[in-house]
Amino acid sequence: MKIIVLAGGLSTERDVSLSSSAGICKTLVEKGHEAYLLDVFLGLENPPANLEDVFFLPGHGLEIAGGIRTTEPDIEAIKASRTDKSGCFLGPNVIELCRMADITFLGLHGGEGENGKLQATFDLLGIRYTGPDSLGCAVAMDKDFTKQVFLQAGVDTPAGGCLHKNDTDKSLARFSLTLPVVVKPCSGGSSIGVYIVHTEKEYEEALNNSFRYEDEILVEPYIKGREFACGIIDGKALPPIEIIPKTGFFDYANKYQDGASKEVCPADISPEIENKMKELTVKAYRALKLSVYSRADFLLDEKENLYCLEMNTLPGMTPASLLPKEAGAVGIDYGSLCELIIQKSLE
Ligand code: DAL
Ligand code: MG
Repeated sequence: MKIIVLAGGLSTERDVSLSSSAGICKTLVEKGHEAYLLDVFLGLENPPANLEDVFFLPGHGLEIAGGIRTTEPDIEAIKASRTDKSGCFLGPNVIELCRMADITFLGLHGGEGENGKLQATFDLLGIRYTGPDSLGCAVAMDKDFTKQVFLQAGVDTPAGGCLHKNDTDKSLARFSLTLPVVVKPCSGGSSIGVYIVHTEKEYEEALNNSFRYEDEILVEPYIKGREFACGIIDGKALPPIEIIPKTGFFDYANKYQDGASKEVCPADISPEIENKMKELTVKAYRALKLSVYSRADFLLDEKENLYCLEMNTLPGMTPASLLPKEAGAVGIDYGSLCELIIQKSLE
């Protein structure tokens, strides 16, 4: 099969995407596919004439995507590095290359790659791609919208509220919240710009920092507990995985630094909790009208209350990522997982 693995992009998760995409491309080549890694960002500047001239031919260029910086990317540097001032994400050359392939594997994370816009564009152009379609991606990308859908559908989720940077009242009282709280960009990923705050001063600093990423942020009560994720493929939940960071919470560094977190899959939880997590994952997936694959993130508090935080519609596929480990626990290796995602996306 001729496959473009679309990578990079302009979001804060660019590095993560390059790592996911390198893994996906490499395994697809090993499986005998004609797979090409295409960096959307470079694609704007260097239009190739045809697939054979694509920037990273099989087996080439993959090394550039081998490592992820383990400190949070600097949003100001990312903004400054956007060379295409028109804001164009998909150059016509990228679209033409995707058209030539049997399917485009979306190795993108965050921003325009995951918020439904690219999916909607591809739908209109008749380009086949992997993962959920535009509606689910758009709603799942907005953590405020997601919360409203979850509450409506009976998916337990933390309370909280959304603040716009121009709001005059940014007090916690507005949402009947008290410290400690969690502050996060409304549409972020990989925990970038997420802060756990215990004091008024920290709250103010967190707001300032979080608003550097986006105009809207979410404030939620801080829930002390264990962290889990539960992947889902074709409507069926995978075995949940527990993430045990050596220090702090599962932030950017703990997500991508080798050895910073321990992951246990299948998670060491009672059958009741496991079933509840799987049920909530399926409920959340259906409520958001998702398809093909996704990953739900959970917190389990000390009283065994389970909270679904969000759904990731293009979950990480890096060597450190959770979904491949969950699939591995039921005998689906990384390469087979990528092929399964392609197969389900084409159905
Ligand atoms: N947003 C990252 C890639 C994840 O959910 O795995
Ligand atoms: Mg996420």
